[in-house]
Amino acid sequence: MAGVQARVASVRVLDAVLHRGRSLKAALAQALPALPDPRDRALVEAICFAVVRGRARYEAALAAWMPKPPGRRDGELRALLYAGLAQLDPLQMPAHAVLSACVDVARALGRAHQAGLVNALLRRAQREGVPAGDIEAQWPAWLRERLRTDWPEDIEAIFAASAQPAPLWLRVNRRHGTREAYAARLAEAGIACAIDAGNPDAIRLDAGVAVAALPGFSAGEVSVQDVAAQAVADALGPAPGARVLDACIAPGGKAAHLLERDPGLSLTGLDVDRQRLDRVRDTFARLGVGARAALRVADAADVDAWWDGEAFDAVLLDAPCSATGIVRRQPDVPLHRRAADIQALCATQARLLDAGWRVLRPGGVLLYTTCSILRDENAAQVDAFLARTPDAEAEALDARFGRTAGAGRQRLPGEGGGDGFYYARLRRRG
Ligand SMILES: C[S@@+](CC[C@H](N)C(=O)[O-])C[C@H]1O[C@@H](n2cnc3c(N)ncnc32)[C@H](O)[C@@H]1O
Repeated sequence: MAGVQARVASVRVLDAVLHRGRSLKAALAQALPALPDPRDRALVEAICFAVVRGRARYEAALAAWMPKPPGRRDGELRALLYAGLAQLDPLQMPAHAVLSACVDVARALGRAHQAGLVNALLRRAQREGVPAGDIEAQWPAWLRERLRTDWPEDIEAIFAASAQPAPLWLRVNRRHGTREAYAARLAEAGIACAIDAGNPDAIRLDAGVAVAALPGFSAGEVSVQDVAAQAVADALGPAPGARVLDACIAPGGKAAHLLERDPGLSLTGLDVDRQRLDRVRDTFARLGVGARAALRVADAADVDAWWDGEAFDAVLLDAPCSATGIVRRQPDVPLHRRAADIQALCATQARLLDAGWRVLRPGGVLLYTTCSILRDENAAQVDAFLARTPDAEAEALDARFGRTAGAGRQRLPGEGGGDGFYYARLRRRG
C-alpha cells in the first residue's frame, strides 16, 4: 500500500512529540532524510503539522467515542488514531485510502490486534465527521490566562491566527535583482505570489512550495523568512559600513538580510549553540554574504569572554524567547512550554540586554526583538531595562511594526499576514 512507510514515520514522529517532549522540528529533521521520495516527506510533514495543530480536537473526539481512549502509555496507538483523523480532516484525503493505509500501518507497527479498532474509529469519523473542537484547548491553562491578561481584546484573534498554517514569505536578495523581477520569475514558474506593500524585500506565497522549486534558491537569490522577521532590518537600519553585533545570530536570517542590504557592514555574530552557528555559515555561503563576518560560539552575556573592547555602532538582540508569536509555524510550542521557562527566559533576556548595552558605543542603537507575544518578555522587559539604564532612551518606530506596547511595538500573529513579533529601538545617549 502506497504511503505506509511515510505514515509509519508520521506516527513515530508524533509519538515522540506528543508524548516524549521532543520538538516537532527536531523529530522531523531526524525522520525525513530516511524517506527518499519527496512526496513521502511532504506527506509526513502535512500529517504531523495537522495533528499537532489539532491535537486537542482529536483528543476530545477520542474521549467522546471511546470508553477508554488510549493514554500516553499507549502513545503509538494514540498517535496513529490522531494521524488517521487528521488525514480525514483537515487534510481531506480520500477516506477509503486513509482507512486502508491506517490499518496497514497498525500491522506494520506490530499492532495487528488493534487494526479492527483503528478501522472502526476512522469509519465513525468518516460517517459523522470529526467534531470541531475548541482551539483554546491547544494551550495550557497557565499560558491561556497569561495571554488573556496581556491581550484581553485580541485573545480570540490570537488563538484563531495561531491555529492556522502560515503563508510562505520570501525575502528577495537585493544583490541579485529587484523583487519585481523575481516575482515575474515566480509567475513564469507558475507560482502565484503577492508583493508586500509595507516591506521592501518581501513576497508572499499562499500555497506551500518546496524551497528547491523556488527559482534561484540554491544560487542565493531568495530566502524563506516571515515578513515580521524581515522588518527587523528596517527597525535596526544600521548606517553604511557600520560595526554591527548580532548577539544571538543563529540560524542567521536577520544578519543575512542586513548583509544583503549592505555587504560593507562589519558584522560580529555570536551564538551559544555551535551547531546552529554552523547553519549561519551555510546560509551566508548560499547567499554569497558575510565572507568577512566574525562568527563565534559564545554566551553573549559573558562579555569578558568574547569582547575585544572595540564598541559597536549597532547591536541586534534577537533574544531567545517563548516563541509564543510563531505557534502557527511551530504548533508544538504550547505543548512544550512550562511556566517556569518564561521566568528563566526573562532572566536571560535581561542579562543579554545589559551585555549588549555594555558593548554599544555612546550614540549607538540596540534593537531588542523577540517572536514572543508575552508582555513580560517584551514591553515589561524593556521598561525594566530603561528604568535601570540611565543613558538609554527608546526611539519611536512607526505603525508598520505593530501597535504601541510599552517603549516598543508589538505585532500579533496573523497581523499583516506575519508572525507575532516585538521590536524596541534603544539609543545610547552620546
Ligand atoms: C531567536 S533565535 C535567533 C534567530 C536569528 N537572529 C535569526 O534571525 O536567524 C535566538 C538564538 O539565541 C541563541 N542564544 C540563546 N542564549 C544565548 C546567549 N546567552 N548568547 C548567545 N546566543 C544565545 C540561541 O542558540 C538561538 O540561536
